[in-house]
Amino acid sequence: MMPETEAIRYEKDEQQIVTLTLDMPGRHANVINQAFGAALAAALARLQTETDLAGVIITSAKKTFMAGADLEDVDLFNDAAQVFQGSEALKAGFRQLETLGKPVVAALNGTALGGGFELALACHHRIALDDPGIKIGFPEVTLGLLPGGGGVVRLTRLIGLQNAFPFLMEGKQVKPQEAKAAGLIDDLAADREALLAKARAWIAAHPKPQQPWDQPGYKMPGGNAQSPKVVQMLAIAPAMLRKQTYGNYPAPEAIMRTAVLGSTLDFDTASRLESRAFAAVATSKVARNMITAFWFQLNEINKGARRPALPPTETRKVGVLGAGMMGHGIAYVTAWAGLDVVLKDVSQEKAEEGKQKIAVLAQKRVSRGQMTADQKQALLDRILTTGSAADLQGCDLVIEAVFEDRDLKARVTAEAEAQMAGTAVFASNTSTLPITGLAERSARPEQFIGLHFFSPVERMKLVEIIVGEKTSDETLARAFDYVLKIRKTPIVVNDSRGFYTSRVFGTYVNEGMALLAAGQHPRAIEAAGLQAGMPVGPLAVSDEVSLSLMQHVRQQTMADLATAGQPLPDHPAFKVLDTMLAQSRFGKAHGAGFYEYPTDGQKYLWPGLPQLFPPNGRLSLAEMIERLLFVQVLETVRCYEEGVLRSVADANIGSIFGWGFAPFKGGTLQYINDYGLAQFVDRSRELAARYGNRFTPPGLLLEMVEAKSTGFY
Ligand code: NAI
Repeated sequence: MMPETEAIRYEKDEQQIVTLTLDMPGRHANVINQAFGAALAAALARLQTETDLAGVIITSAKKTFMAGADLEDVDLFNDAAQVFQGSEALKAGFRQLETLGKPVVAALNGTALGGGFELALACHHRIALDDPGIKIGFPEVTLGLLPGGGGVVRLTRLIGLQNAFPFLMEGKQVKPQEAKAAGLIDDLAADREALLAKARAWIAAHPKPQQPWDQPGYKMPGGNAQSPKVVQMLAIAPAMLRKQTYGNYPAPEAIMRTAVLGSTLDFDTASRLESRAFAAVATSKVARNMITAFWFQLNEINKGARRPALPPTETRKVGVLGAGMMGHGIAYVTAWAGLDVVLKDVSQEKAEEGKQKIAVLAQKRVSRGQMTADQKQALLDRILTTGSAADLQGCDLVIEAVFEDRDLKARVTAEAEAQMAGTAVFASNTSTLPITGLAERSARPEQFIGLHFFSPVERMKLVEIIVGEKTSDETLARAFDYVLKIRKTPIVVNDSRGFYTSRVFGTYVNEGMALLAAGQHPRAIEAAGLQAGMPVGPLAVSDEVSLSLMQHVRQQTMADLATAGQPLPDHPAFKVLDTMLAQSRFGKAHGAGFYEYPTDGQKYLWPGLPQLFPPNGRLSLAEMIERLLFVQVLETVRCYEEGVLRSVADANIGSIFGWGFAPFKGGTLQYINDYGLAQFVDRSRELAARYGNRFTPPGLLLEMVEAKSTGFY
């Protein structure tokens, strides 16, 4: 018997079945790392010595089956040759398992992702607990990686190229029932006992199994890349992929290439090809950027690195003021997380309208199988609609989402505070008004905070928490815990005009307009935005925000700055905005902005633009892309320098989750690491000389270059 401290427990029973139980000591999930590799090698060596072996069951003692590769070991991804060898070694073990000559069954008692699912695919039969909380799939691509433990080769051979693509290239994860329907697993079991009983029964019935791909005459389901039908699909698949990635993501391209080429090769050659592709993408800058953001920094945030070290708080009842576009969304996600909600508007009827929209959102989830009808009813039952502030009694937290108007916000704050208990927190969802100023109208500014949600609330993962001058640590802790509770990602910023996200996002749209003012073709500007990795071009997104709203915010800002005796900024975008508004082009909601919005067709760029902004030379695509990205990155550095941002992780995650900053760059500050700090500063100076001060590198960057810093970590 192996010592219990090993990563895999080896137990043989009277029926000569060996159960390998994955149970990494000291960790809450099993992962693939060196210790696992050594344990697997030892278990395989021991299996070879068994003379009367009936079969093998692989299961886990943890809540999940296996999470995948251990990314804490990410230094492994420094050297391509080493990555290749690591991948080959792991695969040699998996291959040995499936060619053992004895039945091997994966008994999936929990989630199997990435390397965990690859291990399962190297078994002859896969049975999973029928628990909708379990997930099965390959998330690698979302971190800029590809499944490098045989996942590409085996899944394509198991279910065919076309069926495998969404799992491999989009990182689609499914519950056991869907996994069975898609052919990822073979069987379901009601509980752990049934799981093991079924595994044993399968072993007894299949004493000499072979993987489909090892059987003589094997043909890939749906045909390999040379069969006429697949050739047709493959003629357009790369173009469709490009349309989504703009060539910015090497991993999905490598996956497609590996799957397609691999389908025409023998198993071992295809497998080696996959290891080589894995080594190439794993050591790429994109993988480094994405792992840094979506693994390390996201984990850092979720573990509460920016939360004051105070005891955990529990928020049970939340008041939401305003049942409009933002308010109903906030009420919905709060109730879905199991909290009681008081939804207040000017009248109960108005609040009820908001609740109706919540019912529609919930129904959508029901029809997609993501919520049961009972859950929907329970969710709606948790929401009390009202027109009276008296119903706010007993709320631990009240969030206002009324019109963006200082006096109105002051009034609803006072109204709510009169009903709230001494410890309760009041939060504003304002998108532009500084929190410290709003808190001046509160009787309890220490318990006043900003909770900036994004639209549509039910889809956007980020909440920007804004700490005012007087906001206490207790208040921040409560707000932070609430955001995690509703399953969103909190970033914490200090008060400033536009906070972090709106302020930096604004530089992107303004730069798009500056390009237009300088005579660049609107279509080229939009293409540069998309090619830069932004989800929407700068002109299209301006229309969506609404040009009139942008003008309103600008006027408010100018008025505030004038009152404070501060200098008024100027920007080439201002003239563009004035010109557009003078033409009564207010944005998408009004059916006319930079685009035309025909009721019976697709939007298109307004043909009147070239008259208003006459063409004047052509900048290269690369130049426009860098202008659009640098301007955001530089403003982020200013936020960091001014202390608006408190951490690098918040800057990066906030930029990606908040306004969709190029995910393959790993966020606004990681962009500088990717570019090279000194090179970034040089290039900023060049852009500043050509286009203006907004590109001048802030002092912080110069100091960092001086100090030979490696970047923002
Ligand atoms: P909205 O116009 O859709 O909703 C505002 C709601 O407040 C209306 O239902 C109105 O009847 C209600 N209301 C007015 N006076 C009230 C009172 N005394 N008591 C209770 N309810 C009252 O506005 P929207 O878009 O939901 O914005 C609300 C807030 O959220 C604003 O501060 C806005 O700046 C902010 N915000 C908006 C975002 C957006 O994308 N629309 C994004 C982030 C923040």
